[in-house]
Amino acid sequence: MRLPGFDPKRPPPGPFRAGFWRSPLRGRWLTALLGLILLIGIPILFITGLLSNVAYQPRLGANSLGTNLRPLDFYLFTWPTRPVWLYALTEGMHVTIGLTLIPVLLVKLWSVIPRLFEWPPVRSPAHLLERLSLALLVGSVLFEFGTGILDIQLYYPFSFSFVPAHYYGGWICIGAFGAHSALKLGTMRQGLRTRGEVMDGFSPGGPASLTAISPAPSTMSRRVLLGTVGAGSLILFLQGAGESLGGPFRFLSFLAPRGRAPSGPLGFPVNQTAAAAEVTSASVGPAWRLELVGARSLQLSREQLLMMPQHTYDLPIACVEGWSTTQRWTGVRLRDLAALAGVHDAATVESISIQTGSDFSAATLGSEQVADEQSLLALRVNGVDLSLDHGFPARVISPAVPGVHCTKWVTKMAFSPVRT
Ligand code: HEM
Repeated sequence: MRLPGFDPKRPPPGPFRAGFWRSPLRGRWLTALLGLILLIGIPILFITGLLSNVAYQPRLGANSLGTNLRPLDFYLFTWPTRPVWLYALTEGMHVTIGLTLIPVLLVKLWSVIPRLFEWPPVRSPAHLLERLSLALLVGSVLFEFGTGILDIQLYYPFSFSFVPAHYYGGWICIGAFGAHSALKLGTMRQGLRTRGEVMDGFSPGGPASLTAISPAPSTMSRRVLLGTVGAGSLILFLQGAGESLGGPFRFLSFLAPRGRAPSGPLGFPVNQTAAAAEVTSASVGPAWRLELVGARSLQLSREQLLMMPQHTYDLPIACVEGWSTTQRWTGVRLRDLAALAGVHDAATVESISIQTGSDFSAATLGSEQVADEQSLLALRVNGVDLSLDHGFPARVISPAVPGVHCTKWVTKMAFSPVRT
């Protein structure tokens, strides 16, 4: 296949020259080893990402992909309420493994850079297809890692919505990665056997080789390179694990956008402060009432809620951005409130906040959560009243759900006997 303007007699420009890439560290063994780590890690990221999507079933509202199923948006099972730390585990794994893989991914891409600058750039229609699939693979992997990292740092310089873009990007990424892995499995196995060999088994600079044609003097050994990757991954693993485990481990999370020390008025993190949500003490003063809507409607003051049977459980708030914190919550069971509203076996409850205009303004919980004895409208935490930043006068807390479903500053709860 002849490209317009391409003259096979002229030497290729810059990075397309065979001798341009000179690092003596490149070779199939290094690439195969890093590829093997990604082969284990990326499917785990995809599966834990899908689990996060399941935990956001459309009927649960708030931050899901939408209220109707869209292409590739399927749910094979209902998200359970046990173990109570389930979402903390799956989302903690997703974010922590993603962070841990960053150095591996970067060095893997560096190790194959010469292959991205092949000359001629296109040799045949099959070669063109192969290169397009590589562009899709590299582009989607960088997109997934890039958007994921920006999201956990709560920084949104892009104009699209993160959740659907990251979700559909995940499908493209796993598709391109699966096809690439299937094609390269044999090469990877051969490459792993070439450990310690300077050549990678192909003629240096040739189309299949990663070995430099005129290697520069080495400035470090492969062992030092791998040690540096390992140290970088370990540091990022500890940072992610510190945020996911919370409590005394949070000091490890030096990149946490909300800080390392347990912060907030009650010594645990606050994702969105009352000031940021424009909720003032005046809006939750003595005139505050909780409106219950079901087969009948009624209003309850905080004192009336405190007179109802109180229950205390240790439950995590597990944020979608990967941090978790377990606290001791006290309040009224959701199923007792449903009964007060005249709804037995409620299919859903929609909790509406005083806060307006954000993902946190309202959230829906399903029948499993409403029926669970540990699902509470919490009035107190760790033996004291909720602080305004933690959702005073009342907030939802429910086992194993993403933190965004634990609505703060609740003003209305609508129980429905019918699935929405
Ligand atoms: C450093 C790497 C990554 C980080 C930090 C990261 C972070 C995140 C976060 C914070 C969420 C939860 C979003 C939300 O529900 O608000 C998420 C969801 C998800 N991630 Fe990633 N991610 C990374 C890499 C990947 C990769 C490589 C894939 C695919 C192979 C992937 C696939 C998914 C999927 C499918 C979801 C579910 C989206 C939904 O809720 O519908 N992620 N990720």
